[in-house]
Formats: sequence, C-alpha cells, structure tokens
Amino acid sequence: MSVLSGKKVLLAISAGIAAYKTANLVRLFIKLDAEVQVIMTPASKDFITPLTLSSLSKNPVHSNFYSKEDENELWNNHVELGLWADFMLIAPATANTLSKMANGTCNNLLLATYLSAKCPVYFAPAMDLDMYKHPSTKQSLQKLQDFGNIIIPATSGELASGLVGEGRMAEPEDIVTFIENDMVSKLPLKGKKVLITAGPTYEAIDPVRFIGNHSSGKMGFALAREAANLGAKVTLISGPTNQQLKHSFVNRIDVVSAQEMYTAAHTYFKEVHIAILSAAVADYKPKNVASQKIKKASNTLHIELTPTKDILASLGAIKKNQFLVGFALETNNELEHAKEKLQRKNLDAIVLNSLQDKGAGFATDTNKVTIIDKYLKEQSFQLKSKTEVAKDILEVIISKLEQ
Ligand code: CTP
Repeated sequence: MSVLSGKKVLLAISAGIAAYKTANLVRLFIKLDAEVQVIMTPASKDFITPLTLSSLSKNPVHSNFYSKEDENELWNNHVELGLWADFMLIAPATANTLSKMANGTCNNLLLATYLSAKCPVYFAPAMDLDMYKHPSTKQSLQKLQDFGNIIIPATSGELASGLVGEGRMAEPEDIVTFIENDMVSKLPLKGKKVLITAGPTYEAIDPVRFIGNHSSGKMGFALAREAANLGAKVTLISGPTNQQLKHSFVNRIDVVSAQEMYTAAHTYFKEVHIAILSAAVADYKPKNVASQKIKKASNTLHIELTPTKDILASLGAIKKNQFLVGFALETNNELEHAKEKLQRKNLDAIVLNSLQDKGAGFATDTNKVTIIDKYLKEQSFQLKSKTEVAKDILEVIISKLEQ
C-alpha cells in the first residue's frame, strides 16, 4: 500500500505545455487510492481541458472564484479547498505562477488557494532553460523553499522551444515517487522496526481438536496497519484468523500454537524498537497431544493441561532498549490488575480493556482502552473503532519514545 493511499491531493495546474502531462499525474494518484481535486489557472485550459481532468479525478475542476450551475452562482471557497487537502501540488509551476506565489499576488483561484493552504506544498517548475536560469526565477524558487514549500526539481532534456537544457517538468511517475519518498521520510516511525502479536492461539488436543478462544485479531491487525502507515517496518506474528493485511511494510508470520508464537517472537524481538503484544495467547495447553483422534469411549473425558510460556513476560525479562507494550483484558479490579501485570512483566506500557465496558474486548469492531505507562500514569480513551484505538496507542508510544 502506498503512503498516498487515502490522501487528499490538491493538484494546481498553471499554464505551461507540461500541463498535458497532468492527465497522467491524476491517473497515477487515483491508482494509488488518493483523492484528487484539480484547480487550474484560466490560461492552463489552453493546454489541457477541464473535462479531461474532471473525468479522471471524478471531481469538478475549479478555475474561477465562482461557477455557474443551474443558473445559481456558486462561490468556490479557496480556504475550504486548502483545508481539505493533505497536500497541494503545483504542477506545472510556471515562472509566472512561481513569481506570484513568491510575492503574495492573488489574482486567480490557484494563487488564493496557495496563500490560504495550511498543508504541505510541493511544486514542480516547468519553463524554458533561460527562464529557469534567470536570477528572478532563482529568487522565486529560493523564496518558496524558505517559506517551507518543497521543490520537485525540473530535469534536463528537450524543451518545447526546441532548445535542450534544464527546465522540463519532472515526469509524472517521478513526481509521485518524489512525494511518496518525502512523505515516508517524515513519518514518525520511519526507521523503526515494530513487532506485533495478534489473534488467538490454538492448542492441539488431538489431530482434529484444539483449545482456542474468540479473539478476532482485529486489534493487532489494526495496530500493524497503522504502524506501517506511520513508516514502521512491521513484523506481524498472527495466530489463526481470517484478517487480511496487504502492506509493503508488513511482514506477516502465521503461527498456530503459543509455543510457535513464542519462538517467532523471540526470533524477531532482538532487532525491533517496539513490541506490542496484543495476541490472546492460551494460558494452558494439553499436557499430552493424542496422536490419533480421541474416540468417545466414556461419559467423561479429562484433559490434563499445563501452562504455556508467557511470551510477554519472557520478552520483558530480556528486553534492552525495546519499548514493550502488553495488553490486559480484565473483568474486575481492572486498574489494579493491569498495573500489577505491567510491573511483573517489566513493561513500558500496558493497554487495559475491561469486559465490563460494552463494545470493548475480543470479537467487536470497537474498543475502549486505558493506557498505563511504567510510571503508572493513566490515559483513558472513549469507545472507538479499533483503527482509531490503534492510532491512539501508537501516538502514546511515539510520545513516550520522544521523552
Ligand atoms: N501473553 C503472552 N503470552 C501468554 C499469555 C499472555 O504474551 N502465554 C500476553 C498477551 O498477549 C497480553 C498480556 O500477556 O499482552 C496479558 O495477557 P493476560 O492473559 O491477560 O495476562 P496473564 O498474565 O496471563 O494474566 P491472567 O490470565 O491471570 O489475567
């Protein structure tokens, strides 16, 4: 999954010949599951039609401060457009538009939106080589970068004038890759490795039966997805579940039993920065696993159970600099039990969910958690979707790493 998936892209087109390439740019963003709105300067419509861009972006194209629809004049709110966007991309950015941006000129919708946008702004210059080299253009480029805008440098090659030199707009594929790389490099978990356990474990009784539990794996998978979206390289060790997760930053390892989860967790723990153990691991397993299917021989059947290894506690015992997070699912004296687990298992934080809270725990899509850190400071959150809960948990972890 691309970092651009789900992102809101405001593509602003000024009047250069490279505008014809923006059809492809819109397609690339849409293919990566981004949402695109397009603003055009009036003159750019000579190079590519709004109809092409609205068809590809599946959104109306904005060009004037107001538009006519069914005889009603509609105000195109540039402030709203700027607030809507996760980032604005000005491509092609002509010498004229760059100069106006650098000087605060505001005589079209694109410029008004640029001036009011609070999101990151990327710009891809495109012009003839001598214009690109001119000191006034250089000044504009420098000023914009001093404002915090991000330049996607022009490349060298044959230009519309027939001359060869620097000034060609970067190719759409390269613009997209540039933005992806830039966004990834700024993610808070960039460079971090995260281990997550998820789902239930199954403890075999015989070749066809097992002891399991109702864990869906949703919480662990949401944590893995969100950690990857924040730039982390995630190892997701999952018990049997039908959860799906396709993300280039997630390495999924499927296990069945507590012992397999233990072995996998210890294989990866040494190299990670953060470990979040959200799996509902069986506390006991059958002492002896029957090699043949057990037959109905009598009215009662006794299965002797023996404890499994506590993965979380075993990692707590060997941890060095890893930030170790456990989960506690409790039914009574919740805070007291969770704090006791936090200390006994040598954790940096524990996520408590109480089965007394409606919508919290195992098989639901929602959860309600309290996060307790190693200084026993508590932070309670509302009932939320597991995706939102995962975001809260990771935000707390990131803030603790920065302390
Ligand atoms: N856990 C684990 N390995 C186990 C059992 C639990 O890693 N064999 C982890 C879970 O993933 C969770 C935390 O320990 O992060 C809490 O599990 P829980 O079963 O509530 O804790 P226990 O210490 O087993 O306490 P109890 O069952 O008595 O409440």
